[in-house]
Amino acid sequence: MKIVVCKDYEEMSQKGKDFIISELKRDSSLALGGATGNTPKRLYELLAQSGFDFSERKIWFLDEYFGKMSYYQYAVNFLHNNFPQGRGFRLENIHIPQGIFYWNNQTAHSETLSQILLENKNDYHMLGPEVSIYAEAMNGLLKQIRRSNRNYEHSLPVNRLQILGIGVEGHVGFNEKGTRKTSLTHLTLLDESTLTANESDFADGIRTKYALTQGIQSIMRAKYAVLFASGEKKAEAVHGFLLGDNSASALRNHENLAVFLTRDILARFTDKDKIKLRHSYFIVDFAT
Ligand code: GLP
Repeated sequence: MKIVVCKDYEEMSQKGKDFIISELKRDSSLALGGATGNTPKRLYELLAQSGFDFSERKIWFLDEYFGKMSYYQYAVNFLHNNFPQGRGFRLENIHIPQGIFYWNNQTAHSETLSQILLENKNDYHMLGPEVSIYAEAMNGLLKQIRRSNRNYEHSLPVNRLQILGIGVEGHVGFNEKGTRKTSLTHLTLLDESTLTANESDFADGIRTKYALTQGIQSIMRAKYAVLFASGEKKAEAVHGFLLGDNSASALRNHENLAVFLTRDILARFTDKDKIKLRHSYFIVDFAT
């Protein structure tokens, strides 16, 4: 693992952009993996301004809410609408887990799903926050979700560079605390802390406590991964990721992982922590 320490958010986004563009230039068939959240917003802007032609590249996003299309809209805004004409991602090349399902001719919302789970206890099993839907599930909505997640998982190309953010409690994608390291694309029950941190995603009045997400194993299968974290509020999550045990820490075993951090995150690490980091990882420090 390589850790790149940057002065601030702007420098992190610039260095990240340079790294991603150079990888894309080396391999014309390399796809991208996209992350949502605030962290990669500047990165996407810089990718748009770089002049690089993304029109033949494909991108697979990490996650989507159940019963909403927020992340799909986000993805299209940043990667299609904001790029110079003809150079952005084509709509058919932007892939995101399906969040909208129909049940009784209506969009299935969070409460519909809660009710169905309550009434169909033999169709699934809770594995921590993961809702593992059985192959023999009888309920039509659960069957649809299972099929859709399986298809998404199978469509993910190994030859992709997966961009990642990290949640304040250490999740990647929507892999909440307690998600198995072997998890594939699945339905998950969101943690209270995630719902609070992502409150602004519910400004449209559509609330949900479920999401669809690539699993930890799905992310591990990507050939390259780049994780970005900026600002003190991510210090605890990054500490857990690099030295402790949270859902992101499974990625420490990824063979080609680069981590771009802002300096203020490491300011919260003890001297002992820093020595451990230097022993374990290759550190490029632009901030000193
Ligand atoms: C959200 C998303 C993640 C994102 C993370 C961090 O819940 N599901 O994909 O990486 O949390 O978001 P932010 O960058 O806004 O802190």
